[in-house]
Amino acid sequence: MILKIIKYPNPILRKKSKKIEIIDRKIKKLAQDMLETLKSAQGLGLAAPQVGESISLFVLNFGEKSLVFINPEIIKKSKKKEVLEEGCLSFPGLFLKIKRPKEIEIKALDLNGQEIKRKFNGLDARVIQHEIDHLNGILFIDRLSWLEKLKLKKKIAAVV
Ligand code: NI
Repeated sequence: MILKIIKYPNPILRKKSKKIEIIDRKIKKLAQDMLETLKSAQGLGLAAPQVGESISLFVLNFGEKSLVFINPEIIKKSKKKEVLEEGCLSFPGLFLKIKRPKEIEIKALDLNGQEIKRKFNGLDARVIQHEIDHLNGILFIDRLSWLEKLKLKKKIAAVV
């Protein structure tokens, strides 16, 4: 089932999401629907708050690879940062160059409740950091510097 994607400035995007205690059928169905929604929107990542569920879950879609992460936590970040362009399904048409750590290590659960502990770099690391931010009510516009925010104020106002 394709879900409706919530757009900025809906306040649910600012809420910190709750940890998932039990991975039941409802959670599994939600993850499946989110993957379907993500594919149809041709995005790379989608976090549960973006479909109106304030719970700690996000999905990734890299071509053949579909991944579900539950209760994710970043346990390590590289000091080295890089600037990459990001988009967000909650901000259609807005693409921003954002500086973030180049490599991360995360801990999460998969849909079977098994622990995942993995390092990511490049685009994977980028999308994962963006999605984990969503789970904490942080949006990519918040990651801009003060000056960049000011410069982009008009641009943001025009697309949202
Ligand atoms: Ni996003």
